[in-house]
This record gives sequence, C-alpha cells and structure tokens, in this order.
Amino acid sequence: IIRRSEMKIMVVGGGGREHAIIKKLKENKSVCEIFALPGNGGMAKDATLVPIGAKEIDKIVLFAKENKIDYAVVAPDDPLVLGCVDALEEIGVPCFGPRANAAIIEGSKVFSKNLMKKYGIPTAAYEVFEDAESALEYVKSCPVPTVIKADGLALGKGVIIATDRNEAADAVNSMMKDGKFGKSGSRIVIEEFLTGPEVSVLAFTDGRCVKPMVSSMDHKRAEDNDRGLNTGGMGTVAPNPYYTDDVAKLCMDTIFIPTIEAMNKEGRTFKGCLYFGLMLTPRGPKVIEYNCRFGDPETQVVLPLLESDLLTVMQATTNGTLSECEVKFANKGACCVIMASGGYPEKYESGFEIRIDESVADSVYFAGAKLDGEKLLTAGGRVLGVVAVENSLSDAVKSAYKKVEKIDFEKSFYRHDIGARALKALQYEKGILLMVYRN
Ligand code: AMP
Ligand code: GLY
Repeated sequence: IIRRSEMKIMVVGGGGREHAIIKKLKENKSVCEIFALPGNGGMAKDATLVPIGAKEIDKIVLFAKENKIDYAVVAPDDPLVLGCVDALEEIGVPCFGPRANAAIIEGSKVFSKNLMKKYGIPTAAYEVFEDAESALEYVKSCPVPTVIKADGLALGKGVIIATDRNEAADAVNSMMKDGKFGKSGSRIVIEEFLTGPEVSVLAFTDGRCVKPMVSSMDHKRAEDNDRGLNTGGMGTVAPNPYYTDDVAKLCMDTIFIPTIEAMNKEGRTFKGCLYFGLMLTPRGPKVIEYNCRFGDPETQVVLPLLESDLLTVMQATTNGTLSECEVKFANKGACCVIMASGGYPEKYESGFEIRIDESVADSVYFAGAKLDGEKLLTAGGRVLGVVAVENSLSDAVKSAYKKVEKIDFEKSFYRHDIGARALKALQYEKGILLMVYRN
C-alpha cells in the first residue's frame, strides 16, 4: 500500500481561472480535498463549495483554522489587495499569492507607474492627477489618442482610450467628478497611447527567481474583429506567436527580473504569480499593466499546458525554493473560447439551463454557473470557457470551436475569431518580427 499524505487545500475565488487551478491541483495524488470559496455550481464535482465570498477575509481565515487547511491559493485581486494572504499567514497557513504590500503592484496604477519610472522598466509615458481641474487642463493640449486610467481596482474596466480631446475630458469627468469607479477613480493616470501586439505573460516567482509560464493572448472586446465593449476576456490562446524566443529574452532582462528586484528594493517582495500585460511596440516591449495574480481567461490555456506538478511549483514560490523547481510546459497549443450571456458586459439575463454533451464535459471551465438540483443554470456574464489542447495552435482553435457546438444555453454568445490573429501572425516570416523587436 502506498501511503499518501493528505493535503487539504483551499482555493479562494469562484471563476473559470479558479476552476483551472483546481483541476490542475487535483492531478497531485497527495491532495485529498479542495475547498472552493465560494467557487461556483459548475465546479461542484471538482471541489467542495463553501459559501464564503472571496472578500470576506475574516470568514476565510476562520474557515481555514476550523478545517485545518494545509495550503491556500488566493486567486483574485480583491482579497490579495485586502491582505488575505497576510491574514492567513498570521494563523500559520502557507499561501500562494502576494501579501498586500506587494499586491499593490496591481492595486494602484500610480504605484506601479512610479515603480517602473524609478527603476527604468519600459512603460508608456504618463502623468498622475489628483484633481479634475489639472487633469482637464492637461488633456486640452496632450497628444491624442490618450489613455486614461483609474488608480485603483475597477474590474478591468477602469481604462478609457480617448481618441480625441473631448472624449478625454469626458473620461476625466466620469472618473473624477461623477465617481464612475468610486474611490478607484479619485486619482488617475493619463498615459501615452502605445501600439503593437499584446502579450500576457504569467510568471511564478518566489521573490528571488522568476519562471515565466507559456505566453498567451487575450481577446478583450466583446465582438468579433475586436469590436464592441471591453470585457473581462472572451477567449485566449497559448502560446502567443508574437512572443518569440528573442522577445522573451528581452522581456526577461528588461522587465521581469528588474520588476522582481525593484519590489525587493522597495521592501515589497512579491511571491506568487505576477502577470505581465505587455505591448510589443515598435520601440520594444513595454508594460501595459501588472496583475498580482493569474489572469482570467489566460489561466485556462496556460495551466493545461503545464507538465510540472502545480502544487509543487506553488509551494516552491511560498518556500523560496523556486530556483530548484522545474517548471515545464508542453510544446503544444491551447485555445479557450468563452461562452457568455447575451448582453454581457452590460445587462444580461441568467437562470437558463446549460446543456453539455458528455464527450466535452472535461473541457469546460465554469465561471457563471449555479446548481439547481441536478441541473446547471447560467448565473453570470461569462458563463464558461471551452478549452482544447492539441499539437498545434491551429488544431487547438478548430477543436475548441467543435466543442463549443456541443454546449448550449439560451441567449449564449461567443466570439468566432478567437485565435485568428495569432494564426495569421504564425504565417509571417519569423524574421520580420525579429527585425522589428531587436532594436
Ligand atoms: P488594462 O485594464 O490596463 O489591461 O487595459 C485594458 C486594455 O487597454 C489593454 O489590454 C490595452 O489593450 C489597452 N491599453 C491600456 N493601456 C494602453 C496604452 N498605454 N496604449 C494603448 N492601449 C492601452
Ligand atoms: N485577462 C486579463 C486579466 O485577467 O486581467
């Protein structure tokens, strides 16, 4: 008989990203139970659902104590910024994720922009404004298009790209005078508009070394051909073909390592997953944003490609032993297509039955779903993600869309062009990309 240690794990959060983390953690045979706080009805067969919200720090800590949790993964930005890791560590629960003083790298855009400026990490030029009058004065003569960002967390919606000065003034007013993003918008950043392909790179770090995961590409707009409103993400592919080996090396030297070192120098050592939102501009890769966590839906394509054991890697980030830990990815392609409720990201209806053919059940990562007896009902804007992994990216895209056809619920909608831009890029001569980014 093989004796197995019995790890009890808790995952804070309840979306598709958390479902992907849970599925991967389950591959480790020493994991005996995974609790999801709050999780969602769609993941009920993979985790024990606990009706505690991701922001209810006191209740999370109490639950961990009473249930003798061995390891906690805090996945969403809110609890990280609120100090969930600090609170759990205080009662002796080891965690995956940064403490609050490091999570500020996502929690405050003013902090992250000032950090990059201080340490020479490439990013868009910017100005910070604390009052509407000076911001309005500034946009009267600033170059356009320009980008206006609320300082604090705003569910990925606190960014407005203004194509002319009137739009810029409207954006300033909505954030600073009308309080559209609440307290998050009381300080704003106005920055240079950059162009170029975007790449998401999630990286494990223990504060000493940084091990990037396979790159990915998000599709943020609601409709095909990047039209429509910004969303939390309508689909992803990995790897991102724009992220060549040369670009990766450049990013490691000019962005990833300098960021980890900068955080150490500030006394804000970052442990966990640091998300680099990059733009490959004609003048080299620049940071668009940092997130203090796994991306959603990037995680749904990145983790299925991870060949190393996720729990082992996570524990190494906690223990400071990441340099000794292998982090290996399959040389394959992955695609995630998000199926959403019609109307998202604005008003939408919920409560419709989700029907999934048994043959694709394992490929589904749930976000907005709830149980009603035996039935699963829609319960959110982004309902689920359908993931395919194949030997090539083009096969993964085809396969994901085939699986989508086997799932249906009333009012469902999805983008039909997830991966199209990446596949087009793959057709370019690699040399052209290299020439662009080498200088
Ligand atoms: P964020 O919420 O910071 O990820 O921003 C949302 C999206 O706005 C990004 O994915 C980019 O497509 C775009 N964006 C943000 N900053 C800039 C910028 N300085 N120049 C051009 N586009 C940007
Ligand atoms: N997919 C972008 C994010 O997680 O913020």
